[in-house]
Amino acid sequence: MQTDTYSKLPEHVAVIMDGNGRWAAARSLPRHAGHRAGVKSVRRTVETAARRGVRHLTLFAFSSENFQRPPDEVNKLMGLFVEALRREVDELHRNNVRLQLIGARERLDPGLARKIAAAEERTRANTGLHLIIAVAYGGRWDIVEAARSLGRRVAEGALDPRDIDERALASQLQLAGVPDPDLLIRTGGERRVSNFLLWNIAYAEIFFCDALWPDFGEREFDEALGFYARRQRRYGHTGEQLEAVVKC
Ligand code: IPE
Ligand code: IPE
Ligand code: MG
Repeated sequence: MQTDTYSKLPEHVAVIMDGNGRWAAARSLPRHAGHRAGVKSVRRTVETAARRGVRHLTLFAFSSENFQRPPDEVNKLMGLFVEALRREVDELHRNNVRLQLIGARERLDPGLARKIAAAEERTRANTGLHLIIAVAYGGRWDIVEAARSLGRRVAEGALDPRDIDERALASQLQLAGVPDPDLLIRTGGERRVSNFLLWNIAYAEIFFCDALWPDFGEREFDEALGFYARRQRRYGHTGEQLEAVVKC
């Protein structure tokens, strides 16, 4: 690895892990085999992110809309989450990883929700990679929930509507307290955000990658980091303004 390539390392990387079904279809395997291969890719990506020094890694595992898939696929995916938690949490904990779930927990099987809560509790004090898994998550759902929570506080008289600003809304989102993703990666060749982290990716650099998720490895991750390192993040300023700041 050329360390100078990553002089600008993203603090927070978010990933839309897409392409498991096509990976399986290309091998005449059932979709479930693609999801299983996808779990291995998750493990690899977590290891690479930790090694490169990324602080927060958010993985989109199952969207609000994915509940519309055939029940058999949904059940098998939920089964895979349970299995992955059982197999991986010890090692994540040993590696100082803090695990967090974002999404509508009430839509999950209570047994799975309990296992997630236990894993979060166990790893809460860890100071290494912050691994965030989005399950039953939708960006619009997240914003609606945040608005509802602000509305409740207004109704209780605890919040003046004039004090509702971007900071107040962000404080009620699932990723409250976590810096916005700097880099968003989508595998699988589609160029869309599919209702992921709509609020938080306002200024993310987006890397679309043709590799299907089970084929996404260290090389592809490094390509995304290289892409990020070459971006100039202007946040509405001109390039000249930013260069003047750098020179000062
Ligand atoms: C992503 O892979 C995993 C989930 C959405 C759960 P897909 O299952 O969407 O794979 P493709 O897009 O059909 O290839
Ligand atoms: C996005 O993938 C959701 C996840 C990766 C969890 P989809 O496969 O569901 O996205 P669409 O339906 O092609 O937009
Ligand atoms: Mg897909």
